[in-house]
Amino acid sequence: MVSASRSASAAQVLVASNRGPVSYAAGEDGELTARRGGGGLVSGLSAIGDRADSLWVCSALGEGDREAVRRGVGEPGVRMLDIDADVHADAYNGIANSVLWFVHHLLYQTPLEPVFGPEFRRQWAAYETYNRAFAEALADEAGPGATVLVQDYHLALVPGMLRELRDDLRIGHFSHTPWAPADYFRMLPDDVAEQLLRGMLGADRLGFLTGRWADAFTECCVRVVGGTSGTRIGVHGLGADADFLRERSHRDDVEERMRALREQAGEGRKLIVRVDRTELSKNIVRGLLAYRELLDAHPEWRERVVHVAFAYPSRQDLAVYRDYTAEVSRVAADINSTYGTAGWTPVVLHVKDDFARSLAAYRLADVALVNPIRDGMNLVAKEVPVVSDEGCALVLSREAGAYEELGEDALPVNPYDITATAEALHAGLTMSLDERAERTKRLAAAATALPPAQWFLDQLEAL
Ligand code: G6P
Repeated sequence: MVSASRSASAAQVLVASNRGPVSYAAGEDGELTARRGGGGLVSGLSAIGDRADSLWVCSALGEGDREAVRRGVGEPGVRMLDIDADVHADAYNGIANSVLWFVHHLLYQTPLEPVFGPEFRRQWAAYETYNRAFAEALADEAGPGATVLVQDYHLALVPGMLRELRDDLRIGHFSHTPWAPADYFRMLPDDVAEQLLRGMLGADRLGFLTGRWADAFTECCVRVVGGTSGTRIGVHGLGADADFLRERSHRDDVEERMRALREQAGEGRKLIVRVDRTELSKNIVRGLLAYRELLDAHPEWRERVVHVAFAYPSRQDLAVYRDYTAEVSRVAADINSTYGTAGWTPVVLHVKDDFARSLAAYRLADVALVNPIRDGMNLVAKEVPVVSDEGCALVLSREAGAYEELGEDALPVNPYDITATAEALHAGLTMSLDERAERTKRLAAAATALPPAQWFLDQLEAL
């Protein structure tokens, strides 16, 4: 056991996640520039920054981050762990993103996968090493009786490992993803399934985004390890940050991008907007196919609507993500060459991440398309109604966590059914402006019920 008095910073509140709040890139001159990250996990946890006795432990992810660790460059309150690059790659690309992410999002859909053999075992050993590095760093940094909030599927073994090193700590774990149904989860090798669950059950309390994912987890525990052995389980549905979004979306850079988008789409045309990481679970290709079906089934929309699709690069180290990214571009180009005319480009696809442009699209959207196969929450579905200028119809997959809170005022879809999705897009486009505005008002209220700072504090308090 690491004695608490030895700890370097004696933090009282610690967060641990693979991706941290900041990343570094080295310029040509060797100068390091810091960039603050976005995404649900980071925006939810940023409330920790308000406390002087806090520490955020994360991984060094690229060369820039590793260089920052080597040079001792960093932000107060953030500690980056420089874990061996091969170990990190096997743990992150191999286990976290190619196995656990796939299991929780039901992404194994061919008869040839998954295969759990020697390569998997090597990666699993790396995942254990990587989790142990986090547990040891946390044990070292935490003050006596401190509270530690461990995040996500990357770090499922940390609660159990940390408990063994420091039994004075209060340990929470939060899952930002869905949780797999028990039959699907049990595709994992038995010993691995058991280790994952026991690792998480090492926490005092586990958090999930919706009751559905919490129930699925409990069911897995009952089936694999006989129960949840006294670990408390809570639900915290992360909401959108209304104050931040309303202020940010009215700055000049957003107004400028609104003008550019309007010009690109063509004055007076309706806009169907989507904004995602180019992520297999986001179902971007079926979204495009649904749009294509809309243009076929309802030709009256040709020349009168534009699909604005922002698909920002993600996890490009993995071939399956690169292939998916290419497929998104191919299908978009195909729709444009089949239906486009001299004055009308049916799909406007942007792949370069630009938050101001995303907000511009949110403000202008007539219909927002959020159709994931499965999603822990999906913050886009919550952000659009908050930011929308004149009200926006929300086509929402019933498999997104956000559906539990927003389902009543959204247009629900089965994400696999592109015909039904095309009809939902049509219903969104034909919805009266009054109805759109009414629904959007109610959606925004539901979407902001639990702002990020409160979401974070609730978990601390519950621990
Ligand atoms: C999801 C996960 C996060 C992750 C994010 C981006 O929201 O729950 O933990 O950080 O996706 O994925 P990435 O692999 O780029 O960190």
